[in-house]
Amino acid sequence: MLIIQQIHHGTAEYEETVALRNDVLRRPLGLAFTPEMLASEVDEFHIACYRNNELVGCLLLVPRNGGELKMRQVAVAESAQRSGIGKAMVDFSEHFAREHGFSEITMHARETAVPFYLNLGYEIIGDRFEEVSIPHFKMRKEIGG
Ligand SMILES: CC(C)(COP(=O)(O)OP(=O)(O)OC[C@H]1O[C@@H](n2cnc3c(N)ncnc32)[C@H](O)[C@@H]1OP(=O)(O)O)[C@@H](O)C(=O)NCCC(=O)NCCS
Repeated sequence: MLIIQQIHHGTAEYEETVALRNDVLRRPLGLAFTPEMLASEVDEFHIACYRNNELVGCLLLVPRNGGELKMRQVAVAESAQRSGIGKAMVDFSEHFAREHGFSEITMHARETAVPFYLNLGYEIIGDRFEEVSIPHFKMRKEIGG
């Protein structure tokens, strides 16, 4: 059974998501989080997904101006990928965004993840660009109503 819930910055649950993000998103690029980067996440929403009590996915939601909520750091544990966890976390985030009065979700999607977001109704805006040394596209979806 999947449980998706908001967790809080600075807790043991948060530290566990940082370790997962390191494994899935940072270490493969030879990068690491600095204490300053993690401290700056205090005002963001942290979402975690558990399967049989084990952390299998997480993401962050950052409030922006004009009803925009930016999704970032979407990570599913390698052994749990392609089993519906990413989709379930994005669905949860859209519901969460509506409940909190946001009208649009945006993200900087890695090129390799673009088909995943297209499949969930997100559209590409603008040209390909580089971030953390790999190609990305900005994507968005209106979630109002
Ligand atoms: C990209 C990622 C978040 C997707 O999560 P996931 O749990 O593996 O994906 P899901 O199982 O929920 O997939 C949902 C649908 O998208 C498809 N999909 C998932 N990843 C895909 C990919 N990389 N390319 C094409 N299709 C993909 C699945 O086949 C599935 O399609 P279906 O509904 O027709 O069966 C996850 O694989 C991941 O963490 N990857 C590594 C880190 C990363 O790239 N993060 C995103 C940064 S922007």
